[in-house]
Amino acid sequence: MGFEERLAQLGALKARAALGGGHDRIDAQHQRGKLTARERLSILLDPGTFEEIDALAVHLNGVEEDERFYGDAVVTGWGKIDGRQVCAFAQDFTVYGGSLGEVVGEKIAKVMDLAVKIGVPVIGLNDSGGARIQEGVGSLAGYGDIFHRNVKASGVIPQISVIMGPCAGGAVYSPALTDFIFMVEGTSQMFLTGPDVIQSATGEVTTMEELGGAHSHISKSGVAHFSVKGEEACLEEVRRLLSYIPLNNMDDPPFVDTGDAATRRLDDIASVVPAETSLPYDVRDVIERMVDNGEFMEVHEYFAQNIVVGFARIAGHAIGLVANQPMYLGGVLDIDSTRKAARFVRFCDAFNVPIVTLVDVPGYLPGISQEYGGIIAHGAKLVYAYSAATVPKVTVILRKAFGGAYDAMGSKHLGADVNYAWAGAAIAVMAGSQAVNIINRREIQSSKEPEATRARLVADYQQRLEHPYIAAAKGYIDDVIDPAETRVKVAHALEMLRGKAETQPPRKHGNIPL
Ligand code: HXC
Repeated sequence: MGFEERLAQLGALKARAALGGGHDRIDAQHQRGKLTARERLSILLDPGTFEEIDALAVHLNGVEEDERFYGDAVVTGWGKIDGRQVCAFAQDFTVYGGSLGEVVGEKIAKVMDLAVKIGVPVIGLNDSGGARIQEGVGSLAGYGDIFHRNVKASGVIPQISVIMGPCAGGAVYSPALTDFIFMVEGTSQMFLTGPDVIQSATGEVTTMEELGGAHSHISKSGVAHFSVKGEEACLEEVRRLLSYIPLNNMDDPPFVDTGDAATRRLDDIASVVPAETSLPYDVRDVIERMVDNGEFMEVHEYFAQNIVVGFARIAGHAIGLVANQPMYLGGVLDIDSTRKAARFVRFCDAFNVPIVTLVDVPGYLPGISQEYGGIIAHGAKLVYAYSAATVPKVTVILRKAFGGAYDAMGSKHLGADVNYAWAGAAIAVMAGSQAVNIINRREIQSSKEPEATRARLVADYQQRLEHPYIAAAKGYIDDVIDPAETRVKVAHALEMLRGKAETQPPRKHGNIPL
């Protein structure tokens, strides 16, 4: 065969690989409202930067040459996002439903190994029916090899999963081991076992969307972090997330010149927060005033809404924000909110993103279901995550910090570097209105005018204990500040902490209460 013929042969093979499962299945994919693997990669990555590898790999299950799908059911390679290197793979639903056999497993493992070697994020676009049934244990091995790599790469390179179709069985475990999961509203689902299996096993009747759709996973299970309408918008959000995070654990998040001065005062910020500690407000109104140009990328927006977490920038540098949300359940800490915040703090710490904590918390949620559900162990996760984090940690108490939640929310005692409290903040074991019922019960009960006595005792308690000056006197709070100074104080603290290096005694790893 001459050179020209060889080139023609290569062209034909590449063209065949590019067609995946063929025209009919591509049309069916489009009719389902979904793009193909290659179309998705072209949106995710900067134009012209995608370099595909293993397009000529062929699956093992014995089919004739003319029935082979070159590249098998995944497209792998590398490219750039905002000019920064990443590795990526996109499962191809047009080939055996994106199912994972040995070759697909090997291709994904190879691109993950490459990402670790060069220290760049790996982004997986998932659209897969799970283990390829025809390939038996080879498929299970493929998954096991990917899970192992997910774990080894955890905390070394950012791993991002995007769910873009029905993902079943093994296809959802790997995403669960990664840092963030995006889902596309309406066209993506995640479940270990689908509705039919559930019905035969338990008799429960459900649909794919109800069971594993984006709404279920962003609000009920908390398995997914983001849900976005439309594939293109979803992939744009992945690009946006990457703008806040470094390429690997030895790198810093990118600096962005936002043009927003660190010295900007927040003159109307106090008006957002009612003085009466039990009145609700949306803490995102505080966050948006405080961060550069009001840009805040909220993570887990619809799950455990009593705490808000997400990324923003102050003076151009990325931060991870954790804030109690008085608008939901009074901002109380419970099982889901402590799990959510702990996981976020762990991510920020692993990838050199400083943590800014805004505190307005009445305490932990009392209740039998919370206790039986293990609030003790789940709540401990947050304490563990803050204590273990060595990135810069700056905490501002906005209005109240009561009880164990004072300790848990990035207090000085858990190793925060700089702690501020607004001038009106209350820091105490509990609010005066509750405290007098315990410490002054007999006095109130024996009083001729119990309500007047109670009111006097509450006022006395508030004057003696419900303010920030005891904590400031002890150095637990580094300064009591005017709310209007919040941005500049936090910006200066973060600037001072930029060179922070905290060393730890050698150990294999701690034992977080998982
Ligand atoms: C091989 C598969 C497949 C699979 C789908 N296909 N799943 N081929 N192995 N697991 C093929 C179909 O035969 C079909 O091929 C094409 O993909 C599209 O599938 P459809 O069923 O037509 O599509 P749709 O109606 O959209 O349904 C998608 C689906 C469904 C929900 C994913 O196909 C499904 O339920 N698949 C099986 C899911 C499952 O049980 N997987 C095993 C999980 S166990 P043609 O040729 O017609 O295009 C597992 C264990 C791992 O993963 C454990 C690791 C720890």
